[in-house]
Amino acid sequence: MIIDNLHEHLCELGDRQLFFVVDSAVRQKCFELSPCITPENTYILEAQESNKTLQIVQQIWDFLLEKQATRNSVLVNIGGGIVCDIGGFCASTYMRGMTYINVPTTLLAMVDAANGGKTGFNYKGIKNCVGVIQMPLQVWHYIPFLETLPRQELLSGWAEMLKHALLFSANEWERVTHAMQNLTNLDKYTFASLVEQSCWIKERYVQDDVADNGMRKALNFGHTVGHAVEEWQLSLGKTIPHGFAVMYGMVAELFLSVEKKHFPQTIFEQLKEVWATYYKTLPITPADYETIIAWTHKDKKNTQTDRINCTLLADFSRPYVNQIVTEKELKLAMENW
Ligand code: GLY
Repeated sequence: MIIDNLHEHLCELGDRQLFFVVDSAVRQKCFELSPCITPENTYILEAQESNKTLQIVQQIWDFLLEKQATRNSVLVNIGGGIVCDIGGFCASTYMRGMTYINVPTTLLAMVDAANGGKTGFNYKGIKNCVGVIQMPLQVWHYIPFLETLPRQELLSGWAEMLKHALLFSANEWERVTHAMQNLTNLDKYTFASLVEQSCWIKERYVQDDVADNGMRKALNFGHTVGHAVEEWQLSLGKTIPHGFAVMYGMVAELFLSVEKKHFPQTIFEQLKEVWATYYKTLPITPADYETIIAWTHKDKKNTQTDRINCTLLADFSRPYVNQIVTEKELKLAMENW
């Protein structure tokens, strides 16, 4: 839910003991926003992927133990996806589960990571290898956090909003693509309304399949190829914002949706134009396709390693999960890049 005053909402939790995991990037702002947040009850996390480890999990458990947190305490995670994922995991496992609240500070976390209860950390080089699905008590969206976000970060989150629009309706698609033209000048009411609607669409897919065995997988649209692009870049010692990689994935997977499920070609062309205008940043050559395909085989959604499993769309809000595509089809799809 959208909140205007973080302090008031913390006070509404009554006399429950509060603890915080806070992204170092917003530490000062958080101390200013509420006197409830103090250096004594706060674990500061340097939010980078290399810190999403068992060691940091242990440090947070130790912090909670040392401060005598109980199952009745509340852990409030304030930060991006890494903070929400790792803080959510620590809360869900500490004393067999304490309540937690997510306060996402990036657009990406607002519309994705903070909602839906997926928590965890990386293990043995595998992203989110260990984790649990445990819902937060609440997710609070404090829109002013977005005001200082770099444009790249906004665009990264916007990619997930575009995905949710495709999973919902032509009207939503029109609204999200139109608002994008004014991205850095959007007023906070427009932002709030776009974020709320995007979260609501995600919730529709999560609520009937919290455990992620069926229709929730529709939310993986664009992510089979997207994750492969992300991992490929990492293997080269480079990083690409998650949403940018997902946009490469969506172009490829929406092309396959047109070919195999008759998704409207005009919308595919619009997606491609958005990608080319805002997200096309990688110098990919046909020689790279094989490497990226090899990375799709490592995707944890592929239960059989010789097949590539992804979500395709027949239309807005008509996803088909667990669709098998061949390497040849994928290569053809990548020719759109
Ligand atoms: N990010 C996709 C999901 O929460 O299922």
